[in-house]
Amino acid sequence: MSYFKAINLVKRPSGGPITNDLFEVVSKEIPKLSQGEFLVKQNHLSLDPAMFGWMSPDTNSYIPPVALGDVMRSSGIGEVVESKHPDFKVGDRVTGLMGWQEYYLTDGQGMNKVEAPLPDEAILSIFALPGITATQGLFNIGKPKAGETIIITGAAGSVGSLVGQLAKADGLTVIGVVGTDEKADWIVNELGFDAAINYKSDNLAAQLEEIAPQGFDLYFENTGGPIQNLIIDRMNAHGRVIVCGMIADYSKAEPSPGPNWINVVKRRLTIQGFTMPDHFAEVPALLAKLTPYVTSGKIKYRAHVLEGLESSIDGLNLFFTGENKGKLIVKL
Ligand SMILES: NC(=O)c1ccc[n+]([C@@H]2O[C@H](COP(=O)([O-])OP(=O)(O)OC[C@H]3O[C@@H](n4cnc5c(N)ncnc54)[C@H](OP(=O)(O)O)[C@@H]3O)[C@@H](O)[C@H]2O)c1
Repeated sequence: MSYFKAINLVKRPSGGPITNDLFEVVSKEIPKLSQGEFLVKQNHLSLDPAMFGWMSPDTNSYIPPVALGDVMRSSGIGEVVESKHPDFKVGDRVTGLMGWQEYYLTDGQGMNKVEAPLPDEAILSIFALPGITATQGLFNIGKPKAGETIIITGAAGSVGSLVGQLAKADGLTVIGVVGTDEKADWIVNELGFDAAINYKSDNLAAQLEEIAPQGFDLYFENTGGPIQNLIIDRMNAHGRVIVCGMIADYSKAEPSPGPNWINVVKRRLTIQGFTMPDHFAEVPALLAKLTPYVTSGKIKYRAHVLEGLESSIDGLNLFFTGENKGKLIVKL
């Protein structure tokens, strides 16, 4: 009889760092397949800030929370190792919401085959959640035009770094907000952003004025935090604010107050939040939009790979400290 490891959520976070007591590591028997099922050996799983929402008790969100006692939810990539399913054969590479576990038994619902001959890290960093999120938010919500100026928070992150490169490729002036000088250097000198601001430095209002006296037409919001008010103050008429995430608030018991709506009126701003589960049916179209930018060499990425299933737990804290350099991935 063979066993594998899984991690269940057993307690909900109540603000502050993610700790081991929220989870239990369990050993499970490798299940027997019924007709129409297949078994996946997961090789890499993706850590995403969305997990903070999935761990919370909030049922009034875009997806139900993970039930206490259930395997922690996550997406990942793996290989079919046994199959009684007509459409999936042994050796197929697949992605899907397989959770924090080494093996996953499925009837194929929500699973997608990966045909591209790219490493797992590239698939998870570009063609999985970060890429479809960047593409949906920038193009379908932001509707960017060449010559406009975009500011992106969380700009060295998985989503932000892709948004900036896509916008640059389409002729926008691209400003990134990051939390370290190393990340500022990376997005400007490696990814080709026009400028970067470290939100942990002083005189942010003066820096925004100096870097972009023309103001901002688009604001791709990944983080929230005090710079949000300063950016909203500098939005141009008919500007678009694409609200993708608010990581500065995910570990807080109480969310921060948002900017006053007066500028929304004066500048006739459109502010739109979005979450990708609403757009899963559009994934083929989003990938068709994204792929040419990748194949023409306009998109770079960096993956931050942790080793072993248990590293997922403490790994989540890297999102808060900003110590993740690129897409956070766990190698199983
Ligand atoms: N709407 C959707 O469907 C969807 C899908 C995917 C992701 N998202 C959201 O998009 C955002 C980015 O996700 P990601 O996967 O690309 O993560 P990421 O940007 O790779 O990692 C998170 C980064 O956020 C920054 N950060 C942490 N605390 C902060 C704070 N208090 N103020 C400002 N920045 C802070 C850190 O970078 P620094 O070192 O620069 O501080 C950290 O590296 C998240 O808010 C996530 O929830 C939304």
